Amino acid sequence: MTSPVGGDARERHITGIPISNFTAYGLRNSYGLRLHRTGDRPQRSRRVLVAVAPSRAARTACGHRGVGSIEDVDDSPSDRMDLVRHYFDHAATTPMRDAALTAWETNARRLGNPSAIHGAGREARSVVEEARETVADAWSIPPSTIIWTSGGTESDNLGIIGVARARRRKNPAATQVMVSPIEHHGVLDAAASLTSEGFTVIQMPLTEAGIVNYPATADLMRVHADTLAVVALMAVNNETGIIQPADRLAEVAHTELGVPFHCDAVQAHGLGPALSLQTCTAAFSAHKIGGPLGAGALVIPPDTPIEAISFGAGQESRLRSGTVPVPLVASFAEAVRETTVTESVENQRIDGLAARLESILTSVGAQIIGQNLARVGAIRYALFPGCSGQDLVVLLDARGIHVSTGSACTAGVPQPSHVLLAMGHSQDEANSGLRFSMGWTTTHDDLDALQAALPEVVAIARRR
Ligand SMILES: Cc1ncc(COP(=O)(O)O)c(C=O)c1O
Repeated sequence: MTSPVGGDARERHITGIPISNFTAYGLRNSYGLRLHRTGDRPQRSRRVLVAVAPSRAARTACGHRGVGSIEDVDDSPSDRMDLVRHYFDHAATTPMRDAALTAWETNARRLGNPSAIHGAGREARSVVEEARETVADAWSIPPSTIIWTSGGTESDNLGIIGVARARRRKNPAATQVMVSPIEHHGVLDAAASLTSEGFTVIQMPLTEAGIVNYPATADLMRVHADTLAVVALMAVNNETGIIQPADRLAEVAHTELGVPFHCDAVQAHGLGPALSLQTCTAAFSAHKIGGPLGAGALVIPPDTPIEAISFGAGQESRLRSGTVPVPLVASFAEAVRETTVTESVENQRIDGLAARLESILTSVGAQIIGQNLARVGAIRYALFPGCSGQDLVVLLDARGIHVSTGSACTAGVPQPSHVLLAMGHSQDEANSGLRFSMGWTTTHDDLDALQAALPEVVAIARRR
């Protein structure tokens, strides 16, 4: 993949090129821009973090507003292969589980389009349907209610746009979409896109603590029941790990109001929160649970109004077109199976790690978000007063510790987390945050490394 500004990340020794502050650009997109610390800015400012802008195109794009000099790309310790890595970004993507990898490898060489009627096609089809049954068993739902997608984003898009359009087709008064302000962009932007078709978007109210306010939202749903096309709330927030009242609101929507409800369950799978897959459409993503990148599922209970939003041969129940990627769904199913089987033991283990993580974070003065709220053990979000989250990411990265700010980076520009802002935090606070997310490969060794590195890293970041 090339950077929007061009460039080759391997180019070295470009010392002295003026560059602008591309910190998060390079960091978040990994398009080939590398992050480096410059020397002091010549005029009145603090030290900044900049990306190496290696090609002429990139240098031109950076312009001459920039500061500092660029160091050798390969100086960064985290570029060295021998550096032990401690990965705290499982909510972004988690390593593939062995069983998932084996299923992928086994099927990657398989010949046959699962839609073909010859023997090879039928064999491929049987792998796809076995995978569907495995997932259906794990989730205790009929296989016919699962459709394969490319991941959480596509499932969210279909669950919002496909449902809203179909519901309005049946009931022209249904022109409102209700979402929480802390959704992933796969939901928020899908809802926003519907405004160009005449829908309006209503936001769910949050409590002072920053969780979706269950009674106030249920009441709002009752007030708008006749005009709601779809309501959406995630099960677990991907930045804070806070469990949202999706299950209870889905029940109100389904049983009391007859309004379609969509739940983004991407960060909830295998982590404990209850969710009845009979009451809502639900989005899942394989690569968040130890499956492959590029696979996901949407659960669609019977009688849900829904129509396709992309077009082609209609392979998946005429709702999703495109040749079903046999190795990906076989691998996804194995990840679901293993996650489900190990869930209770694994969650206890992760809860133990989370308790230690919190004490490491608070020992350096970090403020943990949602400390008194129900959260999944796997995700902790912490504010580091006086520090920039971006700086902390880079400083920890240089010590082999991978964390994320959790915030969005739109078109290369770092944004403060919309989740933190919606929860009532200031821009400065939102910019000082880091997300630590753990998963099936996380151990106390990772926490040992974090504990050893964090005091120094925070002290450096505070001086900047
Ligand atoms: C809550 C949530 N929903 C949706 C997505 C998108 O999933 P995918 O990467 O499979 O498109 C993510 C990914 O971070 C997520 O955390």
